[in-house]
Order: sequence, then structure tokens, then C-alpha cells
Amino acid sequence: LADGPLAGKHVIVTSGPTREPIDPVRYIANRSSGKQGHAIAGALAALGAKVTLVSGPVAQPDPPGVRVVRIESARDMLAACEAALPADAAVCAAAVADWRTARAADQKLKKVPGEAPPPLDLALNPDILATLSAAGPSRPRLVVGFAAETESVVANAVTKRAKKGCDWIVANDVSGDVMGGTENAVHLVTDAGVEDWPRMAKEEVARRLAARIAEALQ
Ligand code: C5P
Repeated sequence: LADGPLAGKHVIVTSGPTREPIDPVRYIANRSSGKQGHAIAGALAALGAKVTLVSGPVAQPDPPGVRVVRIESARDMLAACEAALPADAAVCAAAVADWRTARAADQKLKKVPGEAPPPLDLALNPDILATLSAAGPSRPRLVVGFAAETESVVANAVTKRAKKGCDWIVANDVSGDVMGGTENAVHLVTDAGVEDWPRMAKEEVARRLAARIAEALQ
């Protein structure tokens, strides 16, 4: 939509999991279908935004009208996001692996009968949401994070919003069947307070969020 409410605006969206290599054939990853993040990217494009979708490996089709940058690791996701700046808004919906292997092996690790399994030395990954929120002059005007929680959903999201330095947090309860499911029940945490949205399709969550982003960027 060339004349949509987000025409002329650039939004970065992260989606999907990241993969952190152990060796050339093995990795550690998070559980994420990419459904919600991809739906958000599509909904923003439908309102006229130029969208850069930085995505880990997912089975979702590319949303129409969106530039998709495919990455695997958290560090690659951060580099792709930084390369996509400047942006008017960023929505971090990816399930980023908090840790990577401290050093990935160049060759496939061998399983030796009778020997103990190799230890997994982990290193902390960069926090993409926190980094974009603290990007100084190139900080997007609106930075939106997600909080997948299994308990004290809203309280944890309020704390997370402050800790990450982002503007909004979309908090969802993942204790039920939300992971990979078609519906989502979310709370939108902003500086104005907390809104409880009814349970709805992930596409509808995406449309509502895109509409709110358009309002905020007016
Ligand atoms: O800290 P936690 O993983 O619960 O925070 C979730 C939010 O932070 C999500 O928006 C997620 O995309 C983002 N995140 C990130 N980089 C990380 C970890 C989380 O962007 N390394």
C-alpha cells in the first residue's frame, strides 16, 4: 500500500529461532515457528511500511512485499539488524538463543565408545532488543519487544521493558498451546500501562499491533 499509514516508514522485524553451531552438523536452538513475527512483518507491509524481516530458519513463506534477510546465529541476526538501520521502528519477535557454544568445532565431533560426552562450553549471546534500544542516535523511534512467560506474565513483562530499555513489550503466556499454535493471548505493556487483548489469531494480533505502530509513528 503506497498510500498506507506507514508509507515512507522503515521497520525492522526479527522472527524465528536462532541456531548456534556446536560443530558442522549440530546446533542448539530455541523453539519458534516464526508465525507471529512473520505475521507482524506482513501486517506492517500491508500498511505501506518498508519492512526488513531478519529471520532465523523457519518453515513460513516470505510475507508479500517484505525484504527478508536470512540468518542463523544470534550474532548474525544482530549484524543484519544493525546493517538495516536506520529504521523508524523495530519489532523483536525472534526467539534468540541466549547462549552459543563458546567455540564451534571445525570438524564433526566424534562419538568414541566408552568416552564421556564432550562438555558444552557456553558463551552469552548479544541481546538484540537491548542493543537496538540503546543504539544512541540511530535508535529506532519505537522499539517493541516480546516476553514469552509461563508465570507472572504481566509483572515479568513490566520488569523486562525497563531492563531492555524498549518502548513496548508484547507479553504472552506460553504455558499452554501458544508455541507453534495459530492463536495468541497477549498483553501490551507501554509507558501508559497494560492492555489485556483477548485471545485471537496471530494474524489478528499482528494487524492490531501494526495499526498501533502506525498510530505511534504518526
Ligand atoms: O530476555 P528474553 O529472551 O526473555 O527477552 C525476550 C525479548 O528479547 C524478545 O523480544 C526477543 O526477541 C528479545 N531478545 C533479543 N536478543 C536476545 C534475547 C532476547 O533480541 N539475545
